[in-house]
Amino acid sequence: MTQQLLSPVTLGDLELPNRVAHAPMTRTRAEADGTPTALMAEYYSQRASAGLLIAEATAVSDNSISWQNMPGAFKPQHVEGWKLTTDAVHGKGGKIFLQIWHPGRATHSLLNNGQHPVAPSPIPITGDQIHTPEGKKDYETPNEITTDEIKRIVADFKQAALYAEQANFDGVEIHGANGYLIDQFLQTVTNQRSDSYGGSIENRYRFLDEVVNAVLEVYPANRVGVRLAPNGVYNDMGSPEFREQFLYAGKQLDRYGLAYLHVMDGLAFGFHEKGDPLELSEFRKVFGGTLMGNCGYTKEAAEARIVEGNADLIAFGIPFISTPDLVERFAQNLPLNPELGQEHWYGDGAAKGYTDQPTAQEAGIS
Ligand code: PHB
Repeated sequence: MTQQLLSPVTLGDLELPNRVAHAPMTRTRAEADGTPTALMAEYYSQRASAGLLIAEATAVSDNSISWQNMPGAFKPQHVEGWKLTTDAVHGKGGKIFLQIWHPGRATHSLLNNGQHPVAPSPIPITGDQIHTPEGKKDYETPNEITTDEIKRIVADFKQAALYAEQANFDGVEIHGANGYLIDQFLQTVTNQRSDSYGGSIENRYRFLDEVVNAVLEVYPANRVGVRLAPNGVYNDMGSPEFREQFLYAGKQLDRYGLAYLHVMDGLAFGFHEKGDPLELSEFRKVFGGTLMGNCGYTKEAAEARIVEGNADLIAFGIPFISTPDLVERFAQNLPLNPELGQEHWYGDGAAKGYTDQPTAQEAGIS
């Protein structure tokens, strides 16, 4: 049987050998100052047979850190550190984008040198806590972001894209998902502003649009992706008007000729239950470019989604943590490694549960 999932696809001006993407995942293996390490280069290069690697969420400034040992793209030494990764991936013929983010309210002043979190409206995350250098803490009530701060953060996204370009990333993915700052602007549950950034679907989309335009001053549109999570509950999200809001965003983003729109359509990361889940087929009607699905997909489900015409690529997260040669396993119908538990996802620099996962050959099953 022909496997569409393993067939080549054109992404902007890039020819990808298959439609399996590595989803961005926070793994906390950078230096304390956010400098990416040789261990991270090893991790990504082990997975370079993915059609596209999307590297983990990366801070755009020194007030957008939400994990100790997460990487940054806001200092020259971050560029040098990331070059280890891009060199290693390119050396194996792979392609890699960097995901750039600002967490908004989903961080803590203890992670950001005392700088208080900002968000569209002063509404804290409830029902969960955040890891800080002083242990787990309740989320703080964020300060309502000013228009001057909005301008500065948009400029930070542009600067992060410049650093990504200097580090030879093939492109960048703007993180508009999972309850981080861009998503906080998009949704009424976190955005109750009455200025030009809130109060209507168009206004709530404005911040994302400004970030996209800033990043397009650095990378051509066909090297820029955007990730959205219309169905997610993570970080206390989920708004009644999610369907209209996210389809509006998809329609607006369609004008740019982006590399792709990456939608977490699956419900494996939690579902807000504010209506029927928003599906890729609905995005297909408003977004004419490349669509990437994600979240909880098996090989079979990914294949079905591509064959039915509602996705061009599928990003895999958890399966890639434990199985570095995921593409070869799919191609040869081999079983995957046992899934690593959540205790290994975040690692404060450790190789254990990160670069120590065997290929099929190493596991003696090929
Ligand atoms: C996380 O660190 O838990 C995290 C980061 C980025 C995401 C989702 C989760 O998009």
